[in-house]
Amino acid sequence: MRRKLVVGNWKMNGSRQTVLELLGTIGARSKAAGCEVAICPPFVYLDLCNLVLSATDIALGAQDMSEHASGARTGEVSATMLTDFRCRYVLLGHSERRTSHGESDETVARKTLQAIEAGLSPIVCVGETWEERQAGRTYDVLARQIHVVADALNSSGQLMSLTVAYEPVWAIGSGVTATASVAQDAHAFIRQCLARHSATASQRVRILYGGSMKPDNAAELLAMPDIDGGLIGGASLNASQFLSIIDAAVRLEAVQ
Ligand code: 13P
Repeated sequence: MRRKLVVGNWKMNGSRQTVLELLGTIGARSKAAGCEVAICPPFVYLDLCNLVLSATDIALGAQDMSEHASGARTGEVSATMLTDFRCRYVLLGHSERRTSHGESDETVARKTLQAIEAGLSPIVCVGETWEERQAGRTYDVLARQIHVVADALNSSGQLMSLTVAYEPVWAIGSGVTATASVAQDAHAFIRQCLARHSATASQRVRILYGGSMKPDNAAELLAMPDIDGGLIGGASLNASQFLSIIDAAVRLEAVQ
């Protein structure tokens, strides 16, 4: 059975003060979590988050990393540096990086391999734009994004260490959420793509939904058979909203 995973992607938000406030509230409830919870703060707050979260069950992740191991790469952060801060997860290929930083599927694939080899669990983000959906190309886009990453891995064991996040670009930060059935169809399709590489891995890999997940739509989305958790942007910056989404996941774990 796949345990639900709720991840907060803080993006480029926060300050030392708001980080401490948010973690104070979220961390205090972590022991009650029947699901797995992680937060991905900006790099500069990883150390602070690591210190505060070490007393809790909440895992830490980064929002990106370099595809290179070390060297003259000004401004970059390596996978092993992230493990130094006890990061378990790293987001890779978020649509904001694909769009604003020109990250290709191949870049995302190289980063994924680098992350796995350093002992991190990559959360690989995939998803179509509104234009691609309107043109009937959603499944082509998802298949390409998944297969390029899976082809770069060396074993089904490596594939099993992946988490995938389906984030339709049109739903990110827009307040428009994919309906539960649209999201479920995409998640089931992603699982079929993974099965072409390894049937066992396809059943183990968690596929998270991201894109305007909020307390009022989380339970319906998380109840879908192939939706194994959420990657939360805006609502993860509000402790009570984030905790409500965690509660929805915990309730579903309890009935499964
Ligand atoms: P929102 O929840 O703000 O739509 O962001 C989703 C996202 O991009 C998470 O990575």
